[in-house]
Amino acid sequence: MKFLTLVLLVAAVNAKHEIYIGWKSYIVKPDSYEQLEKLGSKIPELELDFVSNAALNREGVVLVKPQYQADFLDFLTKEKISHRIHVEDLKAQFDLEDKEIEEQDRRTRSANGARIPYDNYQTLEVIYEYIDRIAAQYPETVTLVENWRSFEGRPLKYLKISRDNFQSNKPIVFIDGGMHAREWISPPAVTYAIHKLVENVTEPDLLDKYDWILYPVANPDGYAFTHTNTRMWRKTRSTDQSVASRLCPGADGNRNFNFAWNTVGTSNNRCSDIYAGSRAFSEVEVRAVDAIMQEYRDRIDIYITMHSFGSMILYPWGHDGTLSENAFALQRVGIAMAVAIDELSLPHFPNYVVGNSVLVIGYAASGAAEDYAHSIGIPLTYTYELPGISGQGFHLNPRYIHQVVRETWAGLVAGARAA
Ligand code: ARG
Ligand code: ZN
Repeated sequence: MKFLTLVLLVAAVNAKHEIYIGWKSYIVKPDSYEQLEKLGSKIPELELDFVSNAALNREGVVLVKPQYQADFLDFLTKEKISHRIHVEDLKAQFDLEDKEIEEQDRRTRSANGARIPYDNYQTLEVIYEYIDRIAAQYPETVTLVENWRSFEGRPLKYLKISRDNFQSNKPIVFIDGGMHAREWISPPAVTYAIHKLVENVTEPDLLDKYDWILYPVANPDGYAFTHTNTRMWRKTRSTDQSVASRLCPGADGNRNFNFAWNTVGTSNNRCSDIYAGSRAFSEVEVRAVDAIMQEYRDRIDIYITMHSFGSMILYPWGHDGTLSENAFALQRVGIAMAVAIDELSLPHFPNYVVGNSVLVIGYAASGAAEDYAHSIGIPLTYTYELPGISGQGFHLNPRYIHQVVRETWAGLVAGARAA
């Protein structure tokens, strides 16, 4: 009996990540803008999944499903795009990541005695416990807001951080993370900012000048699902009456905002990772972000949405590559942030690139948060693509989380001061 339990246990453990059998990842490096655009244009057709965004002369990492392997290689050869295999066996790669997380858990818990959200890739429970604890422990400066629930009924939690409970009409910095479920480095970047504004304050001027809204996990259903089921889940988890939606739940939150909705770089196929949703703001998680923007529309000076990977600071307009009237300020503050990050960065991390979304990553995409926020009048809006190290797997070894959150905080500090 014991033996049978053991066999079943081993089988269950190995069953994890099995949907990635036959998937491979490639490193691609476009050496002309034309090649970059060609790669971008193939995303819908070959269901290419850029887990790390390519840029001009800069490597990207793309996941390719079993059924598209041949077509993808033919395309690269025909277009003479430089490439090499990255991970032959994605399932093995994810099994390895699980081990790294366990090791990191042992290390950090023996050092800290508890699970901290920016010490490791943590479950939603750990992140929520931290948010709750901070709110309870620092009632003078922190207000927990949980007015909304996710599609699956989880509370949506964000913190308002202020010296005077938002009373004196200071400008606001609003930062969200975790809209794309699998981009696990994103929530730690936001929780670390909470830590630096509340628990370990070394830049008190930031609270003199601004009030802050910090929203670490904007898509908790998706986030939970990446831990329990599908590591590379990106979307929300919503369904409706249709059979199709039950087979393929969710929409891409970063295609669901009401700005040039579903016009470019999106899909109408529910199973696609860039499905725009049945209408703009169909997703309650996206409406919740919009509600924050609307409530403080006139006061939010800076909005940043945390994504990964690419070491990029992207700004509007991302649906057509044109520049907004505020482009000069966007570039100037963007550069200030990037310079501060690069100064703290490690030699084997790529330097940050700053620029218009389309011009940097080579594909246009409508309905994105940074464009929508700008369209309703928020002057400085950015998508951060946090750093990953392509040579080490397309994920970031949890040993590097601390580095990334610290350097990202330096970027936020520089941005807030420059704005
Ligand atoms: N990786 C992000 C995404 O695909 C980039 C978004 C850039 N912004 C934009 N407006 N297109 O969602
Ligand atoms: Zn993303």
